[in-house]
Amino acid sequence: MTGPANATVSCRICGGVVDEFLDLGRQPLSDRFLTADDLAGEFFYRLAVGQCHGCSMVQLTEEVPRELMFHEAYPYHSSGSSVMREHFARIARRFLDSELTGPDPFVVEIGCNDGIMLKSMQEAGIRHLGFEPSSGVAEVARAQGIRVRTDFFEASTATAVREAEGQADVIYAANTMCHIPYLESVFRGVDALLTERGVFVFEDPYLGDIVAKTSFDQIYDEHFYLFSAGSVRAAAERFGFELVDVERLAVHGGEVRYFLARRGARTPTPAVARLLAEESAQQLTDIATLRSFAVGVERVRADLTALLHRLRAEGRRVVGYGATAKSATVTNFCGIGPELVAYVCDTTPGKQHHLTPGRHIPVRPAADFADPYPDYALLFAWNHAEEIMAKEQEFQAAGGKWILYVPEVHIV
Ligand code: SAH
Ligand code: TYD
Ligand code: ZN
Repeated sequence: MTGPANATVSCRICGGVVDEFLDLGRQPLSDRFLTADDLAGEFFYRLAVGQCHGCSMVQLTEEVPRELMFHEAYPYHSSGSSVMREHFARIARRFLDSELTGPDPFVVEIGCNDGIMLKSMQEAGIRHLGFEPSSGVAEVARAQGIRVRTDFFEASTATAVREAEGQADVIYAANTMCHIPYLESVFRGVDALLTERGVFVFEDPYLGDIVAKTSFDQIYDEHFYLFSAGSVRAAAERFGFELVDVERLAVHGGEVRYFLARRGARTPTPAVARLLAEESAQQLTDIATLRSFAVGVERVRADLTALLHRLRAEGRRVVGYGATAKSATVTNFCGIGPELVAYVCDTTPGKQHHLTPGRHIPVRPAADFADPYPDYALLFAWNHAEEIMAKEQEFQAAGGKWILYVPEVHIV
């Protein structure tokens, strides 16, 4: 997979030239937690990001085959966060109240994972279907009575559902559209499956927040695109849709929720023009802005590694908190292994008693965090800081300190 750094890369959306602005080096699969037996065959690729000259879409320059990322053993379970459970119950309620009020409404979710959102639809008795290629998490959803098709959403699978079940009033995707390089096929699928007046809604980490917070750990194999309102609008138009509303979200470190409709079907809200104007005032998609973001990333690496080396020299115990996919980028880009961070605590059964990708830091159950508390905890799950710090108050009461690296390296 590892190609030459200077080969010309074509935009996955429009075919334009992609200008690389950040190289995060040799990286493993971010959600591939290993046993000792797996170490020899570990997969690596070159993680670099660029921007299209034509349509401004920010994207990875190399694509990891989807079957290597999304499969039976995909370990990420969406329902591990109470804040996220609440978040998805709320958007489900909104769809129920506004879009799913007709005689026999139908909602489709792309990347439903363990059913965190569709659970509300199932409980409300609404006709629904989740697409979820990772069969392990799909099974967790199914066990709760949620209807799931174990498949990638794309033109062919979406068309098959339309033929069997008719069109959907809402198609929704959270933290999944940015995972899909082949968006042209996805949009053809949406075109087949969505009703004339239907709405296609997706939410993903926002380029504006990533740049503002230097949160470069949002960049990893699964996050193929870093969306902005400008790039999403261009892609939507290219594929026959219109961006009709946007909302900024605080979850996962800052996201935008995009509402798309068929061209002319809905009147765009003022929020769209407002966010587009903000993006151009901030020069968000100027290559110069993205290059200075890359300089900021180098600064975070220097500060974080200096801090961890100092703490080790002082004999402090440092552990990680949250074996996130994002942390693969941090540990592998910064060269952080078990000598700097002894282990990582995490609530996910499929990650525990495994080693983190690339740097092979042991993952331990969350209960081990207090057994005994470390001097410092490196908060890899910084996007869940509020929830985690609230439940780990005793750690701080016992004198423990949190290390954060977003928006810059600091100790709390
Ligand atoms: N929506 C959940 C899960 C996000 S993780 C949440 O926000 O928490 C992304 C999910 O998308 C994974 O479960 C992965 O298996 C799934 N996925 C990846 N490619 C997909 C595709 N083409 N169609 C449907 N789901 C896909
Ligand atoms: P998350 O940041 O949601 O996503 P990603 O893997 O895409 O970067 O992952 C959160 C991880 O942190 C997940 O492995 C579960 C873990 N976690 C805990 O261990 N404790 C907690 O209280 C929470 C909220 C998450
Ligand atoms: Zn392009």
